[in-house]
Amino acid sequence: ARTGRLVVAVDGPSGSGKSTVSRRLAGGLDAKYLDTGAMYRAVTWAVLRSGVDPQDAEAVAKTAAATELTIGVDPAAPQIAVDGVPVDREIRGPEVTAAVSAVSAVPEVRRLLVERQRELILAAGRIVVEGRDIGAVVAPDADLKVYLTASADARAQRRSAESAADVAATAADLARRDRLDSTRKASPLQQAPDAVVLDTTELGIDEVVERLRELLAGPVSR
Ligand code: DC
Repeated sequence: ARTGRLVVAVDGPSGSGKSTVSRRLAGGLDAKYLDTGAMYRAVTWAVLRSGVDPQDAEAVAKTAAATELTIGVDPAAPQIAVDGVPVDREIRGPEVTAAVSAVSAVPEVRRLLVERQRELILAAGRIVVEGRDIGAVVAPDADLKVYLTASADARAQRRSAESAADVAATAADLARRDRLDSTRKASPLQQAPDAVVLDTTELGIDEVVERLRELLAGPVSR
């Protein structure tokens, strides 16, 4: 049915195809879409705007607590604003990308954002949620948990195509963020034990979306 509650968790490193796949899947399911990475990016934008050092965990936590995020969950037009200011473009810039791993490693930031994410999921009813810790931490009861991967090369190619940065620089940046995101103490990028792992290196977006639809339609054996 198109009306019952449905939560799909899509985790994986950047460049794995998470965002495109998640938005498309949500559109087809009449579901909402939540980009949790955008939330960490928006807090990072607020931190930089306030002149706070992203490495200063205490000051970062304070800024996060004082920041009002407005989050739109329409898969056709996801939106995010900080204290009423739309920051959709700004949060994709190199300054935010360079500082987001430090900000998202602060436990208090994660506590605040995970709480908000759970509220948004509850309010949406049907939703596809993408991030790094969705299946493991944010929505452990999700109906379907997917972990998307792709080779480091494929991920760098995809990201540099999106950002107009060159492939070598993008590859270096991805490797740096993967390392920071996977080794931090507070809920690192992780594969839930019951997640379906899909390697998207050789798959097109449509093929990945189709595979996820099949998993949702058929009896998912876990
Ligand atoms: O998916 P993205 O590249 O926009 O995510 C930006 C950063 O946010 C990423 O480097 C790690 C962090 N993040 C996180 O810690 N937990 C999430 N659920 C989503 C993103």
